[in-house]
Amino acid sequence: MKSKKQKPDFLHIGNRLLLWYEQNSRDLPWRKTKDPYKIWICEVVLQQTQVKQGTAHYLRFVERFPDAKTLANADTDEVLLYWKGLGYYSRAMNLHKAAKQISEEFGGNFPDNFDDILKLKGVGKYTAAAVASICFGTPVPAVDGNFYRVLSRLFADDFDVSNTQAFAYFSKLAMRIMPADVAGDFNQAMMDLGSEICKPINPLCSECPLNKDCVAYLTGTTALFPVKTKKTKVNELAMQYYFVENAGRFLIRRRDTVSIWKNLYEFATEIPADWEKFVIKTKTIAHKLTHRNMLITISHTQISTSDFEDFAKENGFVISSVEESDHVSFPKPLENYIKMFNVKNPTL
Ligand code: ADE
Repeated sequence: MKSKKQKPDFLHIGNRLLLWYEQNSRDLPWRKTKDPYKIWICEVVLQQTQVKQGTAHYLRFVERFPDAKTLANADTDEVLLYWKGLGYYSRAMNLHKAAKQISEEFGGNFPDNFDDILKLKGVGKYTAAAVASICFGTPVPAVDGNFYRVLSRLFADDFDVSNTQAFAYFSKLAMRIMPADVAGDFNQAMMDLGSEICKPINPLCSECPLNKDCVAYLTGTTALFPVKTKKTKVNELAMQYYFVENAGRFLIRRRDTVSIWKNLYEFATEIPADWEKFVIKTKTIAHKLTHRNMLITISHTQISTSDFEDFAKENGFVISSVEESDHVSFPKPLENYIKMFNVKNPTL
């Protein structure tokens, strides 16, 4: 990022944060490496899930795909499979495309500067800053929601985080407390402080290393920050699935590659009208994404063997057991449905 040199006038705050980080840094597997490929994977995993659940996923992913070349050469389905459980599979597709980009455009070497890292598919300013600062010591703040919260409270700053200028504004504010020579540690310290101490609700201010400087804490106004005036626009979407089943086996089919859930497997979306009478149970699952609230209705439909097999053949379905379904990837709510089905029918 091309940032103007901002003199850090509140450097003592950043230094105090770093001291706290030295003493309280969590022992996380990606903190033992400066390999930009691994840090990149970790950052994308952690956009999906909390550290606690993300750690096992990260370890599994980098064990199977230890470098960009291995990832680039892998089959898309396998990449999706190693993303199983994390949801937002488009992120896994982007990781795969970016790995190919590294092979084709960067001679197989992970780019070593902020501007080139930003060119990778799916990589935004936050991720580029995290990788550049942690791996190459580039003095850029990795501004995310944690930064907005910590900084707006620290300075009791009411700049609206839904404003399109918020990223630039809080980046500048971060530069005022960031010791430029240890930006990687500073960024990770901010992440830890934001998730462990400066929580959105009920922050643990009495344990905070910055409480002496925090204007919101000193004035009892932490709950007023960060200021956010515009809600994220959310579309409501309803979907209908038929879980067509016979003796514990069910029909699955790969989705197309143009809409959401590209390449993932799903259940039938239509059945012959006279099969409605074989619906034994209907369940509605609410599934919330950043920009979509989905209501997914799944009708468990039990069909006799011959109809089941004919329908599968004529409509391009695969007949799958729970165990077999484990080898392909589903949208998260369908994955959960199969898990539930398995628990209720353990003998099948
Ligand atoms: N959340 C996002 N990135 C992280 C990191 N590198 N360490 C801990 N938590 C994080």
